[in-house]
Amino acid sequence: MSNMYKVCFVAVVFAIVLSAVYSHATPSEQCPGESFDNLQERIQVTPCGKTRCKLPKNSNITVVFKFTPIKVVKSITNEVHANVAGVPLPFIGVDGTDACGNVKRADTQEAVACPLPAGQDYIYTNVFPVQPFYPAINLRVHWNLRDGKKSLICFEVPAIITAGKKN
Ligand SMILES: *[C@@H]1O[C@H](CO)[C@@H](O)[C@H](O)[C@H]1NC(C)=O
Repeated sequence: MSNMYKVCFVAVVFAIVLSAVYSHATPSEQCPGESFDNLQERIQVTPCGKTRCKLPKNSNITVVFKFTPIKVVKSITNEVHANVAGVPLPFIGVDGTDACGNVKRADTQEAVACPLPAGQDYIYTNVFPVQPFYPAINLRVHWNLRDGKKSLICFEVPAIITAGKKN
């Protein structure tokens, strides 16, 4: 290889490594039967690893969704469960609750109330604790924001509950 090529090669490798380390992309996947555009750009779970989200006990997890409804949104309901070995377990305290109160306009950061006008970008944020009594297991998180039967945005992500810090 000429020196020029070597420099280019090294630069490309660096760029790939840096983007892997600093992008913090959430490895979100489509829910069964759904196909949202740019899903990985719309979902952020923190903390999260590159291939699955590590959820330490006694810590708070932040979930951010960006969505742009094409029709007026009458109401939004959280549908959240953990699939453990193929069995869906509802996330008590979040599953079935109203999600409108967690939504802001993306451009002004103003809180909004349902019904939401269509064609706007919205941001939904939720923070929830990983309780110390949760079992340390592999699971698949399924999170859907529903307006009636319709899904506004939905993702699934492989996750693991880890021991975390003791209190
Ligand atoms: C999680 O958030 C709650 C409510 O904001 C806060 O009281 C608590 O200290 C947080 N826990 C951790 C581990 O950051």
